[in-house]
Amino acid sequence: MSKHKVGIVGGDGIGPEVIAEGLKVIAACGVELETIDYDIGGARYLKDGMVLSDEILDEWRGLDAIYLGAVGTPEVPPGVIERGLLLKMRFDLDLYVNQRPFVKPDDGEGSGHDFVVIRENTEGAYAGEGGFLRKGTPQEIATQGSVNTRMGAERAIRYAFDLARTRRAHLTLVHKTNVLTFSGDLWERTFNEVATEYSDVETAYNHVDAACIYFVEDPQRYDVVVTDNLFGDILTDLGGAVSGGIGVASSANLNPSRTGPSMFEPVHGSAPDIAGQQKANPVAAILSGAMMLDFLGEPDAADRITMACADAASLTGSTAEIGDAVVGRL
Ligand code: IPM
Ligand code: MN
Repeated sequence: MSKHKVGIVGGDGIGPEVIAEGLKVIAACGVELETIDYDIGGARYLKDGMVLSDEILDEWRGLDAIYLGAVGTPEVPPGVIERGLLLKMRFDLDLYVNQRPFVKPDDGEGSGHDFVVIRENTEGAYAGEGGFLRKGTPQEIATQGSVNTRMGAERAIRYAFDLARTRRAHLTLVHKTNVLTFSGDLWERTFNEVATEYSDVETAYNHVDAACIYFVEDPQRYDVVVTDNLFGDILTDLGGAVSGGIGVASSANLNPSRTGPSMFEPVHGSAPDIAGQQKANPVAAILSGAMMLDFLGEPDAADRITMACADAASLTGSTAEIGDAVVGRL
């Protein structure tokens, strides 16, 4: 197999440390990557004001994948890196599925779970619709709309149905149809229409507030969950919290049409308070690397890495020691 071309964005804080372990584990599997490093993120922005240039984006379109640690520094105002880098990548590279798996091993009392959240990744409240009126006056108005297209909802929903077919054939739509009667209606109608093509997949619906309770009290009811961008953001932090913590939560920002590279990153942020101290848990980044290999057509290596991280709670020590321990378990 030819070498996969992967753009590496270590980024800020603990990002470079955890990505180094991910690359170490991938190399130990015998998968060869042709990597290209990109110095972007909060620190780069503070140096010369560059967030994400059109040149870099164009270069990325020719890559197979992007492997990203974490971006963001406390010195940069909120929104600059989030909108200018992460969301720009998701939108401009059309990474319309954000796939986040949550696995908690069984402790012998049937308490484990294994489900995946498919978060729509290009629309909703993240689209940036809205603005200010009369800013800075006592009558100030801020609106922040939620953009929902039939196409956007449908492609995320179809991806989720296809994924459910490869698993336990159960898919839950999460929304808030009782209050969001426009966007919720579009999502629910689309979900029900697509469901007629997947009669082998059992479906369910939960309001997002109820889903928060089920994530904590009965996560075993879920196989695949599909939801919009903002609900998916919130629910996946909760998913991480009930599945061994954010230190082991992995994610894939996918362009399933493969018209460009997909992007793989741990769910956690840059954690500047512990940066450079070898204190970060690299398992989330390592597992995100496994998702990348799976998407690149290396399912055997991906499975080996995932298995090696299965008992993540027993992996302790410094960032590099955990990386070495995963290599030892391959
Ligand atoms: C995530 C993050 C991002 C999001 C932020 C950093 C823009 O929280 O990937 O979940 O809200 O999508
Ligand atoms: Mn988030």
